[in-house]
Amino acid sequence: MENKKIPTHVGIIMDGNGRWATARGKKRSYGHKVGSDNVDRIVSHAFSSGIKSLTLYAFSSENWARPKEEVDELMKLLKTYFKKFIKKVIKNDVRLFVVGGREQLSSDLVKVIEDGERQSENNTAHHLNIAINYGGRQEIVSAVNKLIEKGEEITVDGISKNLYTAPSGEPDLIIRTGGEYRLSNFLLFQGAYSELYFTDVLWPDFDEKELDKALDSFAGRKRRFGKI
Ligand code: FPP
Repeated sequence: MENKKIPTHVGIIMDGNGRWATARGKKRSYGHKVGSDNVDRIVSHAFSSGIKSLTLYAFSSENWARPKEEVDELMKLLKTYFKKFIKKVIKNDVRLFVVGGREQLSSDLVKVIEDGERQSENNTAHHLNIAINYGGRQEIVSAVNKLIEKGEEITVDGISKNLYTAPSGEPDLIIRTGGEYRLSNFLLFQGAYSELYFTDVLWPDFDEKELDKALDSFAGRKRRFGKI
Protein backbone atom coordinates (compact mmCIF):
# COMPACT_ATOMS: atom_id res chain seq x y z
CA MET A 1 0.00 0.00 0.00
CA GLU A 2 2.93 2.32 0.77
CA ASN A 3 3.86 2.97 -2.84
CA LYS A 4 0.34 2.86 -4.26
CA LYS A 5 -0.05 5.08 -7.33
CA ILE A 6 -2.29 7.97 -6.25
CA PRO A 7 -4.09 10.19 -8.78
CA THR A 8 -3.10 13.86 -8.64
CA HIS A 9 -6.50 15.21 -9.68
CA VAL A 10 -9.82 13.40 -9.15
CA GLY A 11 -13.26 14.48 -10.39
CA ILE A 12 -16.41 13.17 -8.70
CA ILE A 13 -19.99 13.05 -9.99
CA MET A 14 -21.89 12.81 -6.70
CA ASP A 15 -25.04 11.06 -7.87
CA GLY A 16 -27.81 9.32 -5.95
CA ASN A 17 -28.86 11.73 -3.17
CA GLY A 18 -32.49 11.78 -4.31
CA ARG A 19 -32.82 7.98 -4.49
CA TRP A 20 -31.07 7.59 -1.14
CA ALA A 21 -33.64 9.85 0.53
CA THR A 22 -36.67 8.42 -1.32
CA ALA A 23 -35.68 4.90 -0.24
CA ARG A 24 -35.95 6.14 3.36
CA GLY A 25 -39.33 7.80 2.84
CA LYS A 26 -37.74 11.27 3.05
CA LYS A 27 -37.77 14.29 0.75
CA ARG A 28 -35.05 14.46 -1.92
CA SER A 29 -33.65 17.60 -0.28
CA TYR A 30 -32.84 15.52 2.81
CA GLY A 31 -30.61 13.39 0.56
CA HIS A 32 -28.79 16.52 -0.60
CA LYS A 33 -28.29 17.58 3.02
CA VAL A 34 -26.75 14.20 3.95
CA GLY A 35 -24.82 14.33 0.65
CA SER A 36 -23.31 17.69 1.58
CA ASP A 37 -22.13 16.25 4.94
CA ASN A 38 -20.49 13.46 2.96
CA VAL A 39 -18.58 16.04 0.89
CA ASP A 40 -16.65 17.01 4.00
CA ARG A 41 -15.81 13.41 4.87
CA ILE A 42 -14.61 12.56 1.34
CA VAL A 43 -12.63 15.79 0.86
CA SER A 44 -10.73 15.12 4.11
CA HIS A 45 -10.02 11.52 3.18
CA ALA A 46 -9.02 12.36 -0.39
CA PHE A 47 -6.53 15.01 0.68
CA SER A 48 -5.07 12.89 3.46
CA SER A 49 -4.65 10.05 0.92
CA GLY A 50 -2.35 12.27 -1.17
CA ILE A 51 -4.75 13.56 -3.84
CA LYS A 52 -3.74 17.15 -4.70
CA SER A 53 -6.89 18.39 -6.45
CA LEU A 54 -10.56 17.46 -6.32
CA THR A 55 -13.31 18.63 -8.66
CA LEU A 56 -16.82 17.96 -7.35
CA TYR A 57 -19.93 18.21 -9.50
CA ALA A 58 -22.46 19.94 -7.21
CA PHE A 59 -24.89 21.46 -9.72
CA SER A 60 -24.94 21.10 -13.48
CA SER A 61 -26.12 23.70 -15.97
CA GLU A 62 -29.00 21.28 -16.68
CA ASN A 63 -30.07 20.93 -13.02
CA TRP A 64 -32.05 24.21 -13.22
CA ALA A 65 -34.80 22.16 -14.88
CA ARG A 66 -35.55 20.40 -11.57
CA PRO A 67 -38.56 21.53 -9.47
CA LYS A 68 -37.99 25.05 -8.07
CA GLU A 69 -38.23 23.80 -4.48
CA GLU A 70 -35.34 21.36 -5.01
CA VAL A 71 -33.21 23.97 -6.82
CA ASP A 72 -33.82 26.49 -3.99
CA GLU A 73 -32.88 23.89 -1.36
CA LEU A 74 -29.66 23.01 -3.21
CA MET A 75 -28.67 26.67 -3.53
CA LYS A 76 -29.34 27.22 0.19
CA LEU A 77 -27.28 24.15 1.02
CA LEU A 78 -24.34 25.36 -1.09
CA LYS A 79 -24.35 28.72 0.68
CA THR A 80 -24.41 27.04 4.11
CA TYR A 81 -21.66 24.67 3.00
CA PHE A 82 -19.29 27.45 1.92
CA LYS A 83 -19.91 29.47 5.08
CA LYS A 84 -19.37 26.47 7.31
CA PHE A 85 -16.37 24.86 5.65
CA ILE A 86 -14.30 27.86 4.64
CA LYS A 87 -12.52 27.90 8.05
CA LYS A 88 -11.57 24.26 7.60
CA VAL A 89 -10.42 24.94 4.04
CA ILE A 90 -8.13 27.76 5.22
CA LYS A 91 -6.73 25.69 8.11
CA ASN A 92 -5.83 22.82 5.77
CA ASP A 93 -4.08 24.95 3.15
CA VAL A 94 -6.78 24.23 0.54
CA ARG A 95 -7.43 26.69 -2.26
CA LEU A 96 -11.09 26.90 -3.23
CA PHE A 97 -12.28 27.51 -6.79
CA VAL A 98 -15.91 27.56 -7.86
CA VAL A 99 -16.15 26.56 -11.51
CA GLY A 100 -19.11 27.28 -13.79
CA GLY A 101 -21.19 30.26 -14.88
CA ARG A 102 -21.96 32.75 -12.10
CA GLU A 103 -24.55 34.91 -13.92
CA GLN A 104 -27.48 32.72 -12.91
CA LEU A 105 -26.47 32.41 -9.24
CA SER A 106 -28.00 34.68 -6.59
CA SER A 107 -25.88 37.66 -5.58
CA ASP A 108 -25.61 36.45 -1.97
CA LEU A 109 -24.31 33.03 -3.08
CA VAL A 110 -21.80 34.73 -5.40
CA LYS A 111 -20.61 36.87 -2.48
CA VAL A 112 -20.05 33.82 -0.26
CA ILE A 113 -18.19 32.11 -3.12
CA GLU A 114 -16.00 35.16 -3.80
CA ASP A 115 -15.19 35.55 -0.09
CA GLY A 116 -14.16 31.87 0.08
CA GLU A 117 -12.00 32.12 -3.02
CA ARG A 118 -10.34 35.31 -1.80
CA GLN A 119 -9.67 34.01 1.71
CA SER A 120 -8.05 30.86 0.32
CA GLU A 121 -6.13 32.38 -2.60
CA ASN A 122 -2.69 32.00 -1.01
CA ASN A 123 -3.22 28.32 -0.11
CA THR A 124 -1.17 25.88 -2.11
CA ALA A 125 -1.33 22.30 -0.76
CA HIS A 126 -4.62 21.34 -2.44
CA HIS A 127 -7.20 22.62 -4.91
CA LEU A 128 -10.89 22.08 -4.25
CA ASN A 129 -12.95 22.91 -7.34
CA ILE A 130 -16.70 22.93 -6.76
CA ALA A 131 -18.65 22.85 -10.03
CA ILE A 132 -21.85 24.89 -9.78
CA ASN A 133 -23.93 25.78 -12.83
CA TYR A 134 -21.21 23.89 -14.66
CA GLY A 135 -21.36 22.27 -18.09
CA GLY A 136 -18.36 20.81 -19.93
CA ARG A 137 -19.58 21.95 -23.34
CA GLN A 138 -20.19 25.49 -22.06
CA GLU A 139 -16.69 25.46 -20.52
CA ILE A 140 -15.13 24.57 -23.90
CA VAL A 141 -17.11 27.34 -25.65
CA SER A 142 -16.04 29.82 -22.97
CA ALA A 143 -12.37 28.80 -23.37
CA VAL A 144 -12.56 29.24 -27.17
CA ASN A 145 -14.18 32.66 -26.72
CA LYS A 146 -11.40 33.70 -24.34
CA LEU A 147 -8.82 32.78 -27.02
CA ILE A 148 -10.74 34.73 -29.67
CA GLU A 149 -10.95 37.79 -27.41
CA LYS A 150 -7.18 37.61 -26.84
CA GLY A 151 -6.63 37.19 -30.59
CA GLU A 152 -4.89 33.84 -30.00
CA GLU A 153 -4.91 30.78 -32.21
CA ILE A 154 -7.47 28.06 -31.30
CA THR A 155 -5.33 25.07 -30.32
CA VAL A 156 -5.74 22.10 -27.97
CA ASP A 157 -3.12 23.59 -25.68
CA GLY A 158 -4.78 27.02 -25.83
CA ILE A 159 -8.19 25.60 -24.92
CA SER A 160 -6.66 23.53 -22.08
CA LYS A 161 -5.04 26.61 -20.57
CA ASN A 162 -8.34 28.51 -20.60
CA LEU A 163 -10.55 25.88 -18.96
CA TYR A 164 -11.94 26.66 -15.49
CA THR A 165 -9.95 23.80 -13.96
CA ALA A 166 -6.64 24.66 -15.68
CA PRO A 167 -4.82 25.29 -12.35
CA SER A 168 -5.48 21.66 -11.32
CA GLY A 169 -4.37 20.04 -14.58
CA GLU A 170 -6.28 17.19 -16.20
CA PRO A 171 -8.19 14.74 -13.98
CA ASP A 172 -6.43 11.38 -13.72
CA LEU A 173 -9.56 9.72 -12.40
CA ILE A 174 -13.28 10.49 -12.67
CA ILE A 175 -15.58 8.71 -10.22
CA ARG A 176 -19.35 8.50 -10.62
CA THR A 177 -21.54 7.19 -7.81
CA GLY A 178 -25.21 6.19 -8.11
CA GLY A 179 -25.11 3.48 -10.76
CA GLU A 180 -25.30 5.46 -14.01
CA TYR A 181 -22.61 5.01 -16.65
CA ARG A 182 -22.24 8.41 -18.24
CA LEU A 183 -20.33 11.68 -17.86
CA SER A 184 -23.33 14.06 -17.92
CA ASN A 185 -21.37 17.00 -19.37
CA PHE A 186 -18.62 16.79 -16.71
CA LEU A 187 -14.97 17.63 -17.53
CA LEU A 188 -15.41 16.71 -21.20
CA PHE A 189 -12.25 18.29 -22.62
CA GLN A 190 -9.85 17.70 -19.75
CA GLY A 191 -11.26 14.20 -19.16
CA ALA A 192 -10.21 12.90 -22.58
CA TYR A 193 -7.72 10.44 -21.04
CA SER A 194 -9.11 10.15 -17.52
CA GLU A 195 -9.59 6.73 -16.01
CA LEU A 196 -13.28 6.18 -15.22
CA TYR A 197 -14.69 4.47 -12.12
CA PHE A 198 -18.39 3.77 -11.73
CA THR A 199 -20.06 2.41 -8.61
CA ASP A 200 -23.67 1.60 -7.72
CA VAL A 201 -23.13 3.05 -4.24
CA LEU A 202 -25.29 6.17 -3.76
CA TRP A 203 -23.39 9.35 -2.85
CA PRO A 204 -24.48 9.57 0.83
CA ASP A 205 -23.15 6.00 1.32
CA PHE A 206 -19.87 6.62 -0.53
CA ASP A 207 -17.54 6.59 2.47
CA GLU A 208 -13.77 6.41 2.99
CA LYS A 209 -13.70 2.68 2.21
CA GLU A 210 -15.50 3.25 -1.08
CA LEU A 211 -13.01 5.97 -2.05
CA ASP A 212 -10.19 3.56 -1.19
CA LYS A 213 -11.74 0.99 -3.56
CA ALA A 214 -11.77 3.57 -6.36
CA LEU A 215 -8.13 4.45 -5.60
CA ASP A 216 -7.15 0.76 -5.60
CA SER A 217 -8.85 0.34 -8.97
CA PHE A 218 -6.94 3.36 -10.32
CA ALA A 219 -3.63 2.02 -8.95
CA GLY A 220 -4.10 -1.14 -11.02
CA ARG A 221 -4.78 0.63 -14.33
CA LYS A 222 -2.25 0.92 -17.15
CA ARG A 223 -2.51 4.37 -18.66
CA ARG A 224 -1.31 4.46 -22.24
CA PHE A 225 -2.63 7.84 -23.49
CA GLY A 226 -3.19 6.37 -26.97
CA LYS A 227 0.26 4.77 -27.12
CA ILE A 228 1.01 1.06 -26.80
C1 FPP B 1 -27.15 14.11 -7.68
O1 FPP B 1 -28.12 13.36 -6.98
C2 FPP B 1 -26.69 15.18 -6.86
C3 FPP B 1 -26.87 16.50 -7.13
C4 FPP B 1 -27.60 17.03 -8.29
C5 FPP B 1 -26.36 17.51 -6.21
C6 FPP B 1 -25.04 17.20 -5.56
C7 FPP B 1 -25.00 18.02 -4.35
C8 FPP B 1 -24.49 17.64 -3.17
C9 FPP B 1 -23.75 16.40 -2.92
C10 FPP B 1 -24.67 18.52 -1.99
C11 FPP B 1 -24.06 19.86 -2.05
C12 FPP B 1 -22.66 19.92 -2.55
C13 FPP B 1 -21.64 20.51 -1.95
C14 FPP B 1 -20.36 20.71 -2.66
C15 FPP B 1 -21.73 20.99 -0.57
P1 FPP B 1 -29.55 13.28 -7.60
O2 FPP B 1 -30.40 14.32 -6.98
O3 FPP B 1 -29.48 13.35 -9.09
O4 FPP B 1 -29.98 11.87 -7.12
P2 FPP B 1 -30.86 10.81 -7.90
O5 FPP B 1 -30.06 10.41 -9.12
O6 FPP B 1 -30.98 9.72 -6.91
O7 FPP B 1 -32.15 11.49 -8.23
